[in-house]
Amino acid sequence: MERTFAIIKPDAVERNLIGKIIERIESKGFKIAALKKAALSKTQAESFYHVHKERPFFNDLTAYMVSGPVVLMVLEKENAIADWRELMGATNPADADKGTIRKDFAINLEKNSAHGSDSPETAAFEVSFFFSGTEILP
Ligand code: CMP
Repeated sequence: MERTFAIIKPDAVERNLIGKIIERIESKGFKIAALKKAALSKTQAESFYHVHKERPFFNDLTAYMVSGPVVLMVLEKENAIADWRELMGATNPADADKGTIRKDFAINLEKNSAHGSDSPETAAFEVSFFFSGTEILP
C-alpha cells in the first residue's frame, strides 16, 4: 500500500465539486485514509509550496490557495502516487486527457481543481504537513 496527499482546490470547492471528485477517487479503488476541510493561511500555503518559491507564479499560486476553503486528503492504494496523478490529469487542463478530473472540471493552469504529490518523498512531507499520525486511519 502506498499513501499520497491530495487537495481539492478552492475553485472546485467553490463550485460544489467535492462530491463528484471524491466519487471518482473512491471508484478508482483509493481508500480515503484522512480528510478535512480547511482554510489555509498564507504562511501555510507558502510553506507547503516552498519548492516553487523561486518560480514567477509563486505569489499568485499561494494567494489563490488561500482564496477559499480547500479539502485535504490522504489517499491509499497500491501505486497511489502515480494513480492519483493519472486520475487528476496534466497540471494544465488544456493538456489533460479526456476523462481526467482536470480535463472535466479545471478552469485553467492556476485554478486546476486538484493537487497531488509527485514522489514518495513529497508525499511523506505533504501528508505530515497537514495530518498527524492519529488522524490517518487506513
Ligand atoms: P500543483 O500540482 O498544485 O503544483 C503547483 C501549482 O502551481 C500547480 O498545480 C498549478 O496550479 C500552479 N501553477 C501556476 N502556474 C504554473 C506554471 N507555469 N507551471 C506549473 N504550475 C503552475
